[in-house]
Amino acid sequence: MHIHILGVNGFIGHALARRILEETEWTLSGIDLTSDRLTPLLGHPRFEFRQGDIHRERPWIDQQIARSDIVFPLVAIAQPRRYVLEPIRVFELVFEENLRIVRMCLHHDTRVIFPSTSEVYGMCADETFNEETSPMVFGPTSKERWIYASAKQMLDRIIWAYRTEGLRFTIFRPFNWIGPNQDDTRNDEPGSSRVVTQFLGHLLRREPVPLVEGGQQSRSFTYISDGIDALMRIAENPDGAADNRIFNIGNPDNVCTIAELADHMGRIVSGYPGYEDLMTGLALQPVSAGVFYGPGYQDVSRRRPDIAALTAALGWRPRVGIQEALECTIGHYMKDRALARTEYTAGP
Ligand code: UGA
Repeated sequence: MHIHILGVNGFIGHALARRILEETEWTLSGIDLTSDRLTPLLGHPRFEFRQGDIHRERPWIDQQIARSDIVFPLVAIAQPRRYVLEPIRVFELVFEENLRIVRMCLHHDTRVIFPSTSEVYGMCADETFNEETSPMVFGPTSKERWIYASAKQMLDRIIWAYRTEGLRFTIFRPFNWIGPNQDDTRNDEPGSSRVVTQFLGHLLRREPVPLVEGGQQSRSFTYISDGIDALMRIAENPDGAADNRIFNIGNPDNVCTIAELADHMGRIVSGYPGYEDLMTGLALQPVSAGVFYGPGYQDVSRRRPDIAALTAALGWRPRVGIQEALECTIGHYMKDRALARTEYTAGP
């Protein structure tokens, strides 16, 4: 099989590329603006990497899609702060570029495994979010936060509709995947990273940890290796079990509030030399969503996946609990930090 990944240097893209090269005989090509996460894979005989902008590389992308068995269009802007600050850019990249890719897949009869998002359920009131039965609940148009979710939801619907024209697809919805190499802990601008990386940066610099609206909102955190296991099963697609299906990929047992997350993370970091006293000085700082993200933001108060569909179709279940997921993620960044100690502005 030949696989093509757009956004191959991203958090999910690089982890998927690595798994494909390590565990299969498949050939792989991929494109991204940067290559820092791919360093160990560059030069691999079964991996062709192109550094470039998907806006400018359409002819090459078209060729890749034509030769591929499966395409993963993983290019996205995934930080809620950017949905609010750059809604048009989010629309252009997430919606317009991905729609082009989906149409190329249809044209070349190439199977597409498309990343939707847990965000499409929005402020759904269900206890767990189900692919077939849960309503998708967004706020008013003036709340730009929903432009990402709206773009992804519309793409889901377009892909679903292209079924009738023969598009072969699987749509997957990641629920707060976390792990090594997600965002950059050195980025100290509030809300610039997703929450685990953001909190880790604050803890390492001994800064107060901002809890939006007090941090009582909850998420189900999913370790990246579990997510990649699911994607590999979807790609392998035994007996066509994933054909034209939509699957949540998340860990319903790893629910915690954002305030609990800060506490768990603080305790883990305090196990590292030089941080033993971290918990005594740890300041959790409640901040209003309007102040933290701006008036275009609205939060999701609960988000927990129903994963029965993927378990029934492909026998997949997540294995990594929240404690282990956080320990492995933090362990990775601490190792990196030891290697590049001087790049941090504060802390021991
Ligand atoms: C994320 C992003 O939209 C995407 O990465 C993705 O599609 C999706 O969810 C997912 O991964 O399932 P969200 O979970 O709201 O959305 O993103 P985070 O930035 O990780 O924030 C999680 C929660 O922590 C939010 O309630 C946010 O308000 C809170 N938070 C974040 C804080 O309290 N303090 C911070 O410094 C940062």
